[in-house]
Amino acid sequence: MRCCAGGRSSIPTLHLAPDPAQTAALLQAGVVAVACETITGPGGGLPLLAPMSEVAGRMSIQAAATHLEKSRGGMGVLLGGVPGVPAAHVVVLGAGVVGTHAVQMAVGLGARVTVIDRNVDRLRQLDLLFGNRIATRHATAAVIEDAVHDADVVIGGVLIPGAAAPRLVTRAMVSRMKQGSVVVDVAIDQGGCFETSRPTTHADPTFVVDGVVHYCVANMPGAVAPPRRRR
Ligand SMILES: NC(=O)c1ccc[n+]([C@@H]2O[C@H](COP(=O)([O-])OP(=O)(O)OC[C@H]3O[C@@H](n4cnc5c(N)ncnc54)[C@H](O)[C@@H]3O)[C@@H](O)[C@H]2O)c1
Repeated sequence: MRCCAGGRSSIPTLHLAPDPAQTAALLQAGVVAVACETITGPGGGLPLLAPMSEVAGRMSIQAAATHLEKSRGGMGVLLGGVPGVPAAHVVVLGAGVVGTHAVQMAVGLGARVTVIDRNVDRLRQLDLLFGNRIATRHATAAVIEDAVHDADVVIGGVLIPGAAAPRLVTRAMVSRMKQGSVVVDVAIDQGGCFETSRPTTHADPTFVVDGVVHYCVANMPGAVAPPRRRR
């Protein structure tokens, strides 16, 4: 459950999918609550989650580009490369709202992009949108392992509505990633899709596991909330 404003108001955001203890305590206290991110619209989709996912998906590439810099602990690679130097390989797990917006930003910056999803219809839609500027792959453990191994950046944007995120990237896979590569686990609010993830904050957004920089801010859009109007 999260507040509808996704952190844009003073209402605290609760991330209950990965927090059974807090969920049990709320149930025991008799709290009646609606999990905003599970509300579906008349045509399907998750209309209250989608705007937050659009922001977080776009921000994920900004965060990755920044943390790939040497001074931030990254390997010192420019996402788009330069003439004579190849572009970074960005792997996006999940071709939903987060994934689509991450792909848009990564393609715009000139990165080499692979997007992976178990839903082939989502991959078809991205293929139509971005054509041969991206590679699409159907999600299997072997495909994910291969892609992650070759990646400079991995964006985690998978979702099973109302449930904890599937742990698609194991600790063993992370340990074989390139030193100084960056993972941005957008799905951390649902527990994260990397086995090595734990939630972080904007004040201290990253930590390093096996030489891989992890950015796991659970409320990414909070960093770009519009300023309050003066009265
Ligand atoms: N950290 C933040 O600030 C923040 C902000 C917004 C959204 N989120 C989170 O980002 C995640 C993605 O949100 P979304 O709106 O893009 O969801 P979405 O439903 O639009 O897309 C999720 C995609 O994941 C795919 N998927 C699910 N299980 C999979 C599996 N096992 N293998 C491969 N693909 C799989 C689905 O097919 C779908 O295309 C959610 O966990 C959401 O809560 C986090």
